[in-house]
Amino acid sequence: MTTNLDGAVVAVVGANGGLGAPIARLLAERGARLVLAARRTERLAALDIEGASIVALDVRDVGAGDALVAAAHDTFGRLDGVVNAAGVVAFGLLTDTDDVVLEELFLTNVLGPLWLMKRVVPALAATRGFFVNISAVVADMPMPGMVAYSASKAALTGADRALVRELRRVSVRLCDARPPHTETGLANRPLSGVSPALPHGLSPERVAARIVAAIEADETDVAADQF
Ligand SMILES: NC(=O)c1ccc[n+]([C@@H]2O[C@H](COP(=O)([O-])OP(=O)(O)OC[C@H]3O[C@@H](n4cnc5c(N)ncnc54)[C@H](OP(=O)(O)O)[C@@H]3O)[C@@H](O)[C@H]2O)c1
Repeated sequence: MTTNLDGAVVAVVGANGGLGAPIARLLAERGARLVLAARRTERLAALDIEGASIVALDVRDVGAGDALVAAAHDTFGRLDGVVNAAGVVAFGLLTDTDDVVLEELFLTNVLGPLWLMKRVVPALAATRGFFVNISAVVADMPMPGMVAYSASKAALTGADRALVRELRRVSVRLCDARPPHTETGLANRPLSGVSPALPHGLSPERVAARIVAAIEADETDVAADQF
């Protein structure tokens, strides 16, 4: 099985981010028609992707998926795929991490994606579409000093592993991608704490290209060593 992106309507959540932006650009190069979503819409507009629909949403809102589907349907009449490239990180010992930061991590990285998937799956089932979650290497290799972030990504990947099979019943392809450290600057804007010294990461363009290749090849799982 393969997916042809030419003419497909694909929503990228977190499209102004270090990974979301190159993913959006590659999808546009493949001929996809895009819905670009995040909280800061001025940064979505600055991507200057021709014909893209821009929608302001916060994945911490239960109804974000409804807004995404409405934007896709209003502009293009369908929705063929969603890439969830939204996420936040925090560093530091668990004992030093504020409760509100723990809550934010799980709202953005776990509950938000679950609420989003719940609401977009019916639209994707209608087009036999796809959904990609960008989890992280720490889902498989949790790290001290990143307990809550690791736990949030492990929870997302756990959900994805079960959902791959659940969604197959409605002909929706789910892909869980777990990139290693990537030079997007994410590590420099944590909700709290300070990043440990990390080895130089992969380029965002390389990670984006691997994720788009996974969409085209209908892959359901891209582990860190596959980047
Ligand atoms: N960089 C890495 O080393 C790395 C490695 C493995 C996995 N990942 C994962 O890849 C994903 C993207 O990371 P990145 O490196 O591209 O980070 P980034 O450059 O900071 O981008 C994060 C994106 O998420 C959006 N976002 C954050 N909170 C949101 C919310 N509540 N609602 C809607 N959008 C929200 C941001 O847009 P707004 O702020 O405008 O909303 C932005 O577009 C994350 O899930 C991250 O955990 C990153």
